[in-house]
Amino acid sequence: MKLSNVALFMGACSSAVANPVHELLYRRDVANGTTVAGGSNSSAAGDASNGTATASSTSPSSTAATNVTGGGYGNSSSGSGSSSGSSGSVSVFVTGGTSTLSNSSGVDVNWLFNSSQSLNVTQLYQISIQINQTLGQGSNNGVVIVSNAESLESLGFFSSLVFNTDKPIVIAQNAATGAAIAQDPSSKARGPLVLGDNHLIYPGVFAPSAGETSSCAAVGIASDASNATWFFENSVPALTGPSSVIKQNYTNFTNIDVQNTPVVPIIYDGGYSTQIISSLTSASGFVIVSSGVNSTTSSIGNTSVPVVFAEGGSGLHFVGDEDVPQGTIPAGYLSPVKAQILLSVAAVNGVSSSDALRSLFP
Ligand SMILES: *[C@@H]1O[C@H](CO)[C@@H](O)[C@H](O)[C@H]1NC(C)=O
Ligand SMILES: *[C@@H]1O[C@H](CO)[C@@H](O)[C@H](O)[C@H]1NC(C)=O
Ligand SMILES: *[C@@H]1O[C@H](CO)[C@@H](O)[C@H](O)[C@H]1NC(C)=O
Ligand SMILES: *[C@@H]1O[C@H](CO)[C@@H](O)[C@H](O)[C@H]1NC(C)=O
Ligand SMILES: *[C@@H]1O[C@H](CO)[C@@H](O)[C@H](O)[C@H]1NC(C)=O
Ligand SMILES: *[C@@H]1O[C@H](CO)[C@@H](O)[C@H](O)[C@H]1NC(C)=O
Ligand SMILES: *[C@@H]1O[C@H](CO)[C@@H](O)[C@H](O)[C@H]1NC(C)=O
Ligand SMILES: *[C@@H]1O[C@H](CO)[C@@H](O)[C@H](O)[C@H]1NC(C)=O
Ligand SMILES: *[C@@H]1O[C@H](CO)[C@@H](O)[C@H](O)[C@H]1NC(C)=O
Ligand SMILES: *[C@@H]1O[C@H](CO)[C@@H](O)[C@H](O)[C@H]1NC(C)=O
Ligand SMILES: *[C@@H]1O[C@H](CO)[C@@H](O)[C@H](O)[C@H]1NC(C)=O
Ligand SMILES: *[C@@H]1O[C@H](CO)[C@@H](O)[C@H](O)[C@H]1NC(C)=O
Repeated sequence: MKLSNVALFMGACSSAVANPVHELLYRRDVANGTTVAGGSNSSAAGDASNGTATASSTSPSSTAATNVTGGGYGNSSSGSGSSSGSSGSVSVFVTGGTSTLSNSSGVDVNWLFNSSQSLNVTQLYQISIQINQTLGQGSNNGVVIVSNAESLESLGFFSSLVFNTDKPIVIAQNAATGAAIAQDPSSKARGPLVLGDNHLIYPGVFAPSAGETSSCAAVGIASDASNATWFFENSVPALTGPSSVIKQNYTNFTNIDVQNTPVVPIIYDGGYSTQIISSLTSASGFVIVSSGVNSTTSSIGNTSVPVVFAEGGSGLHFVGDEDVPQGTIPAGYLSPVKAQILLSVAAVNGVSSSDALRSLFP
């Protein structure tokens, strides 16, 4: 599909879908529904654990969902047992953002660090070691990663690549809201979820870039302090679903025991040349942000490292074969940051051939 057609399509999508949603959000903000984080009042955690108790008795829908996505996923013991609901807990990992939660029944809080900057791939892999261990425990019902605003997108996308689980993985700036969503049985079997600034809940694969509020790919909304309203039945995005190329053919992407993380620079808008690419010898690949149709057609030449073109800016775009110089890889609908993470994870696992990489990108 040509870029311009996609832009038109997406424009139609946001005007049709966004308005009612924004109306809802606007009313929320006026009503100041986001009081969860407030001071020492720990009612959010209390409400949330009551939520789990009621939910486990009414679980036919979550059992059905487990069957749907069972294919390539691990056998998560929390899935069906009606007894596990009361004993299991959600683990919160704080890497930034806001957390006033303390350990309580049903929630345990782990402080990793408090970063206000965008997390790099090294840090993403570090975090994933503990999360992987936690997800492997039978008593665990899900994970919340509390993050600064800049890292929501990379955490969402990275988690979608490296974790295989039906358990909820919720990435949010506020620990209490994230924990409430993770304790909602309906958040299972959706892949990692990202809670945006605007209360919308996105699949990790479609997490908006920092500061953006695209509503097109949202799957739900955090409609009040402890409840989510879901727009869709449980399902996972095709790119990282159980039958995707990434999960079927690249099973080693879940390997998180990584010693050296690669360098994959993002080069903006016309600021690149074959010279830059050949001078950065330590890079395992490059993401070039193209600013639209035919923005650059100079040939990239025979670089030995992969070069991916992704489009920046707000909303979803699609960069296809016809939009990029020969020998380079179009990022499809992936943003520059998501393309960078996918290239990095591929590089970590020694996947660098052009054909292999093309099969990974949408
Ligand atoms: C909502 O809360 C914010 C931050 O606490 C405050 O600045 C704002 O005035 C509040 N709005 C209303 C309508 O109460
Ligand atoms: C929590 O806040 C609510 C509303 O402000 C209040 O009614 C309630 O008593 C508070 N609970 C505690 C434990 O402070
Ligand atoms: C929540 O659970 C606690 C302890 O199980 C109970 O005392 C409290 O009444 C419950 N709250 C609601 C709103 O059900
Ligand atoms: C899910 O799988 C179980 C066991 O295989 C089966 O008993 C149950 O009927 C399935 N549920 C649905 C909705 O297919
Ligand atoms: C999942 O694990 C449970 C408990 O270990 C086991 O009884 C069940 O057969 C497993 N299901 C599958 C599909 O492997
Ligand atoms: C919560 O409990 C875990 C152990 O279960 C502990 O490692 C952690 O430090 C505790 N967190 C807080 C904030 O006390
Ligand atoms: C990632 O950030 C950490 C902490 O700021 C730093 O020590 C590390 O070198 C960075 N890694 C890369 C690959 O930039
Ligand atoms: C945790 O990592 C191991 C290998 O490192 C992998 O086999 C397993 O699937 C991972 N667990 C999850 C939940 O992704
Ligand atoms: C969450 O939704 C349930 C069912 O719709 C409702 O009973 C409960 O009061 C809601 N919780 C809050 C905090 O509004
Ligand atoms: C993935 O693996 C299957 C089976 O091994 C193979 O037929 C298929 O061509 C592979 N696809 C890609 C894109 O590598
Ligand atoms: C893009 O460039 C090609 C070749 O230079 C040209 O044929 C085509 O018309 C251009 N497309 C647009 C939309 O400018
Ligand atoms: C990871 O898997 C891919 C696809 O099977 C393979 O090409 C690659 O060599 C593997 N990487 C490592 C380090 O084994």
